[in-house]
Amino acid sequence: MQSAMTSTSRCAIAATTRLPRRSLASSAYFPPRAGGPSRPPTPPSSSPPQPTPPSSSTHPTLPSSIPHPDPSSDATTSTPRLSPSEHALVSSIIRVDQAGELGANWIYRGQKYGSLLRGDTSTARQVSEMWENEKHHLKTMALLRAQHDVRPTVLYPLWQGLAFGLGLGTALLGREAAMACTEAVETVIGEHYDDQIRALKPLIEKHDHPSLPLLRDVLKEFRDDELEHLDTAVEEGAQKAPGHSLLSAVIGAGCKAAIKVCEKI
Ligand SMILES: [Fe+2]
Ligand SMILES: [Fe+2]
Repeated sequence: MQSAMTSTSRCAIAATTRLPRRSLASSAYFPPRAGGPSRPPTPPSSSPPQPTPPSSSTHPTLPSSIPHPDPSSDATTSTPRLSPSEHALVSSIIRVDQAGELGANWIYRGQKYGSLLRGDTSTARQVSEMWENEKHHLKTMALLRAQHDVRPTVLYPLWQGLAFGLGLGTALLGREAAMACTEAVETVIGEHYDDQIRALKPLIEKHDHPSLPLLRDVLKEFRDDELEHLDTAVEEGAQKAPGHSLLSAVIGAGCKAAIKVCEKI
């Protein structure tokens, strides 16, 4: 009974916090480039043409595989003058989100691998679709981290291993267990994005800098993606997993502990 109530309330949270689809704020970090479409598709724009991006010296710390943002926009290339405590807040938000998106990527990698080991190509395909979203989230977080001069968590290798093991282990238990893992993780992450959006509000009101509302809008966009993953997991039988209540509690507690650690280090 407890399990059913918990699951119901989670779905209610997901339904009530969902925004109408969709602002695609992260497209600001992926301007159209010659030779191919960016993700997401760029809507027709009434803004004047932007100058050609200069060399990669604007973002010397970015991996070469990540497209550089439009250097003409303060929203995507500069960081506001913040007090130490305000910068600590922005840093902890971006650091924990980048670590979380890295973890999500490795969970889905493990789930895909585990599903294929069981010969379950249907689940592997479904997992791959959600993984595509997570790849985009991680690339965007890398750009945000460079823009706001945030050091990454020192626990990257640990998260990779734990996340891959979690994804692989639950997928080997079966499709429902894999979906229960996704349901538990995305519930915690969705709520955490909501907390961060609320925490940013005073900074946005105090500082007239376009990077802050853009950061908030990116968090909203990604929260909605995560809640979509949650809905998919529930629709695909997450709550029929053997030991669903225990699995949800353990994975949820693990995610919350990881968030606390990454906020600090
Ligand atoms: Fe994500
Ligand atoms: Fe997700």
